[in-house]
Amino acid sequence: MNTKPQYQIALFGLGVVGQGFFNLLQASQSRDVSIQYIVVKSKTKKRAVPQSLLVYDAAQVWEDERVNLVVEATNDAQAAYEIIKNALLRRIPVVSASKKAIAQKLEDLVRLSRQTNTPFLYEAAVAASIPVLQTLDRYFAYEKPVAAGGILNGTTNYILSRIEQDGLSFNEALLLAQQAGFAEADPSSDVDGWDAAYKLTLLNLHAFGVLNDPAAVLRFSIRNLSRADRELALLEGKSIRLVARSIQTRKGLASWVLPTLVPAGEGLGTIVQENNALQFDFPFNGPWFTAGKGAGSLPTGSAVLKDVQRLVTENYSYRYTHLPVLSLSPLANDVSLELLLAGDDADFPADFRLAGWRRFTDPSGRIVRRGWLVLPELQKWLGRLEEAGVSLLFTGAFQLHESRREALTGFGKPQKVISKPV
Ligand code: HSE
Repeated sequence: MNTKPQYQIALFGLGVVGQGFFNLLQASQSRDVSIQYIVVKSKTKKRAVPQSLLVYDAAQVWEDERVNLVVEATNDAQAAYEIIKNALLRRIPVVSASKKAIAQKLEDLVRLSRQTNTPFLYEAAVAASIPVLQTLDRYFAYEKPVAAGGILNGTTNYILSRIEQDGLSFNEALLLAQQAGFAEADPSSDVDGWDAAYKLTLLNLHAFGVLNDPAAVLRFSIRNLSRADRELALLEGKSIRLVARSIQTRKGLASWVLPTLVPAGEGLGTIVQENNALQFDFPFNGPWFTAGKGAGSLPTGSAVLKDVQRLVTENYSYRYTHLPVLSLSPLANDVSLELLLAGDDADFPADFRLAGWRRFTDPSGRIVRRGWLVLPELQKWLGRLEEAGVSLLFTGAFQLHESRREALTGFGKPQKVISKPV
């Protein structure tokens, strides 16, 4: 006799992720799980699922008491939030892939999941196929890293690596990423670093126990990068990737998402196409590097299915071991970053200053400034520089202010500690 519980799923959304999950679940021939409803918006769109499963009014799902598992895979953050909240209030376990909704409403949703004692899992929301949240939750529950991050957005990695390897233009590469189903409905979320900031926010919670507002993560778009930046990177033996990173500083946790120079052909420099990669530096475990597909129907659908399986077999809930208090904390800014900024003098505000800087002309004839900026200053100028079309590359070198040396071993060689802000 089968003693396992029977799960009746309501699947919300049948886009790239929902369809991938549906196909994989059918292929798995699971006897514990069956799909009761698929809630979609459009009545006219052709769907590759049995018509009998489709419903257009969510109320029908909430009225049916047989539904005991919700899979949320919509592409509308507000709708996603309402669905997750509704399910948790009814004590129905939820698996979600909606990083924007989760990151923006993290405090609220984690609180609700705890108060109702209802599992809420979202592995698919960070780095798709890479099982990073459950690994942090399970295996690193008693060890916080000093640094974490990596390549968290498949679309921008696809664009940057296709430009680098195949000489595609930005727009050609973006179009291909959209056609492959990697990009968000509004790809500016990918290109401008928002998507990576949402994912870094989820990592911050699970790796460091820090609950931050995703809007507080410092971000710079990849849209100002050109072939000239590729040439500049080549000169230094580097590749360009959009890298999300968090480091522990003396004051707390600093987080950013920036176009970054990475060593060509090693570490993050080996990550191409829509792949993602994560780097952690743990005080006891040492470094942990993991990579895999970061976007696409089956990799993301597979992450959703893994969560469903964990619910079915273990009734698993995240433990959030590192989270002392469930409330938003500000991010730290006691760090300086070394940057390369290419643009004409007129592109820079009159009172813009870099520390320890020099200026040179790159192989494409552009004026490039190389120097240091402390995070609050960078935060102040980012919008203006982005709008003026300045291209920004983070060299990967950073300085922690009045910080302990051990905290500096996150990535590569220890950096110089400086005692006062530049
Ligand atoms: N648009 C996202 C990306 C999808 O490109 O990474 C996966 O979260």
